[in-house]
Amino acid sequence: MGVLLSDKDKRTDYCGTLSAADIGREVCVMGWAQKQRDLGSLIFIDLRDRTGIVQLSFDSQTEKSIFDAAFGVRAEYVLCAKGVVRSRGDGAINKNIPTGEIEIYVKDLKVLSSSATPPFEIVEDSKVNAELRLKHRYLDLRRPDMQRNIIARSKISKIARDYFADNGFIEIETPDLIAPTPEGARDYLVPSRVLPGKFYALPQSPQLYKQLLMVSGFDRYIQIARCFRDEDLRADRQPEFTQIDLEMSFVTQDDVISMTEGFLKKLFKEFKGVDLPLPLKRMTYAEAMEKYGSDKPDLRFGFEITNISDEVKNCEFKVFAGAIENGGSVRGINIKGGADKFSRKEIDALTEFAKTYKAKGLAWSKSINGEISSSYAKFLTEKENEAVYEKLGFEEGDLILIVADRNKVVFDTLGALRCHIAKKLGLADPFDYKLLWITEFPLLEYDEEANRYKAMHHPFTMPMEEDIGYLKTEPEKVRSVAYDIVINGTEAGGGSIRIHTPEIQDAMFEALGMKEEEYNEKFGFLLEAFKYGTPPHGGLAFGLDRLVALMLGIDDIRDVIAFPKVQNASELMTKCPTKPDPDALRDLSIKVTKEEEEYL
Ligand code: AMO
Ligand code: AMP
Repeated sequence: MGVLLSDKDKRTDYCGTLSAADIGREVCVMGWAQKQRDLGSLIFIDLRDRTGIVQLSFDSQTEKSIFDAAFGVRAEYVLCAKGVVRSRGDGAINKNIPTGEIEIYVKDLKVLSSSATPPFEIVEDSKVNAELRLKHRYLDLRRPDMQRNIIARSKISKIARDYFADNGFIEIETPDLIAPTPEGARDYLVPSRVLPGKFYALPQSPQLYKQLLMVSGFDRYIQIARCFRDEDLRADRQPEFTQIDLEMSFVTQDDVISMTEGFLKKLFKEFKGVDLPLPLKRMTYAEAMEKYGSDKPDLRFGFEITNISDEVKNCEFKVFAGAIENGGSVRGINIKGGADKFSRKEIDALTEFAKTYKAKGLAWSKSINGEISSSYAKFLTEKENEAVYEKLGFEEGDLILIVADRNKVVFDTLGALRCHIAKKLGLADPFDYKLLWITEFPLLEYDEEANRYKAMHHPFTMPMEEDIGYLKTEPEKVRSVAYDIVINGTEAGGGSIRIHTPEIQDAMFEALGMKEEEYNEKFGFLLEAFKYGTPPHGGLAFGLDRLVALMLGIDDIRDVIAFPKVQNASELMTKCPTKPDPDALRDLSIKVTKEEEEYL
């Protein structure tokens, strides 16, 4: 059922924009029926579009055919209504909505489209399960909160485009069917039909192309780029996501950082009305790991990590002394005023949480009403206990949590615990923005499985000048000119200054254990390009999805992506990935050797 629009049906206003200032105006609105209330001689319909809701009203004076049409309207019918804006009258004013003072007294109504009963109600803050929402994403996207998120995303993209355009950046599209990029995740591959047995990779980022654009002399590049990474999904990770990707020539780290800060300043001002004080805080990777056990520290709360190895290294407690003997450490955090907020049972739950980070246990002390209870104090001398308390600043009302283990386990566990506890205590207000740069990342990290060094960022990242000498002898000591922008404990973006001289690039490939043949095969085109006059260059990419989620105070990036994927990287609405037509596989010279069922 549905009537066609005629040329006379021209929308004059969006529903949510009408107000008392429009009283007396003839208007035409179009949208979806939120609900219809039939009071016998009166009918009210709430009409919704992307700007909000306006009330349509019909009474005994309304022409019968129009009244009858209104009578038949159900939720989600699509309507075109013409009429006069009038005041609702004192008793009927609804202060909860911006258009609550007025209504449209309808003279003409067209039902443009009817609707089956939707699988869930189109309302704010839906409690419907995520699976059903994603299966009918087009309806989920009709909900006001989702509409706001998607519209906010568009605004943020525009702020980025405007800012970078104003600063002389050129928007350039790079290809999606490419050779593998070096970001370190697994590639999505696309088979070539024309060249059987060969595959394109989808870009994990436009990294190499943007560097080539610097060689070409474009000087400042920007792209809002789609990126594809076949990695395990999390709340802040999608297989297909978007970057605000930039690259600049003739720059140092400070230049890229201050250009990026200018964008953040504009974003916070225009999107949140907040004056972001610049320059942003900077912290080295080493300090972040030492104090927060993470390279993306959340600075909205304290609970900094303190090393108490010296205080307990000679103690009788095997757990502590043993960890230090084995090259590890003993460290703790002080949950200030947390003693009465965590019962024994809750501390047991924290211990279980700690174990998921491979900690073998969690030692604790708390002080309530002048009395200290502790899981480990009995194993230490009074002097040792005193020293630990002093180092951790332990006072009446505090709870301290201690982990003894290999350093990686100690940092991972305490780093995660401090965030977990802050969340529990309500200390992680999403709108209390704490931004900082993390700098001086290690250039390489040791890959135990592959038994060789891997680039921490990617193999084109410039080592710090003072560390280049170590590249051959002690590669793990080399720091890089790489930087991440961290917002409230999330890595919102990252970048680096790139290597632009063949000598350093060769040394880097050598440190990565790559033979000349291997790197020539993988990156020969780039090395060849670099022979012809390469400007010093560097850049950065924001995760747009993460940035939008942060700006909106949302945890899960799926809520800011129109059509996201679920845990196993499938999409519930179209059910992709799908089984291809056998002919298509034959054309691609591809034979499937294992099917989904075999993995179950
Ligand atoms: P990087 O790999 O750090 O750097 O990516 C940049 C930013 O992209 C976001 N991001 C993601 N967002 C959602 N889902 C994912 N799976 C995902 N992976 C990354 C993060 C991250 O900070 N070419 C370099 C940038 C450069 O050096 O210029 C790069 O891609 O917010
Ligand atoms: P136990 O002697 O096993 O009763 O341990 C005493 C306390 O030390 C308990 O609270 C354990 O959870 C804790 N503990 C055990 N292993 C570790 C560890 N590796 N780091 C910190 N605390 C631990």
